[in-house]
Amino acid sequence: MQIVVLSLGGSLVNPGVPDSQYVSSLVRMLRQTKYHFGIVVGGGRLARKWAESARKKGASEFEADEAAIEATKKNAQFVIDTIKKDVNRVVCQTFESAREQGKKHRFVVMGGTIPGITTDSDATLLAECMGAKRLLNLSNIDGIYNDNPVRNHNAKKFHRMSYAQLIDLAGKNDMRKAGTHFVFDFLACKLIARSKIEAHFVHGKNLLDVRKAVEGKPHGGTVVK
Ligand code: UTP
Repeated sequence: MQIVVLSLGGSLVNPGVPDSQYVSSLVRMLRQTKYHFGIVVGGGRLARKWAESARKKGASEFEADEAAIEATKKNAQFVIDTIKKDVNRVVCQTFESAREQGKKHRFVVMGGTIPGITTDSDATLLAECMGAKRLLNLSNIDGIYNDNPVRNHNAKKFHRMSYAQLIDLAGKNDMRKAGTHFVFDFLACKLIARSKIEAHFVHGKNLLDVRKAVEGKPHGGTVVK
């Protein structure tokens, strides 16, 4: 049994309202492969909103992170309810429980865990914990660029990167604030490097590319190894 871990962006799962059509079509495609999946769901806009309103009430960054983690768990439960079969029934709270649930089900789903990190790091820790050698980062960006492709239209996409290049780029973008956007969390970059986890960055809605990445085949996104 081979496990692939997905860091599933909250912006895909819940762009404003939960998108069951998208999650269903993603899961349908995943079922057609031969793999088992560990899925960590992000908070997206919901996490940013909850962190922001906590801060307005005077919350510390720790507490703002806690509010954002609750948003990731809400999105994770939505993903579980959409998968329905061959999946844990409630969101796993720890990596160890996810590993145990992964022995019983084809899909195991969790959200955030502790303040100070993001679901990118959670996904990487889950990959280490479950012994997965491949991780996919699914977001609404189709790969890693040398600059923000939304602001800079001349930004260039990397098709292949080393761990050292990714660590360098992520370090420049790391602000460590609840609900902010990183290319890929700096800690997550360090973790994939230490365990030599092959990381694929693809647009989550491009299911052809997602499938290729799941199978370790060439695709239009970025591969880090
Ligand atoms: P995300 O992983 O969703 O952040 O966690 P993101 O980078 O905004 O990703 P998208 O938009 O979903 O793709 C949201 C926030 O939740 C807190 C952090 O504040 C993070 O920015 N969080 C998440 C934690 O503190 N710990 C966790 O384990 C996970």
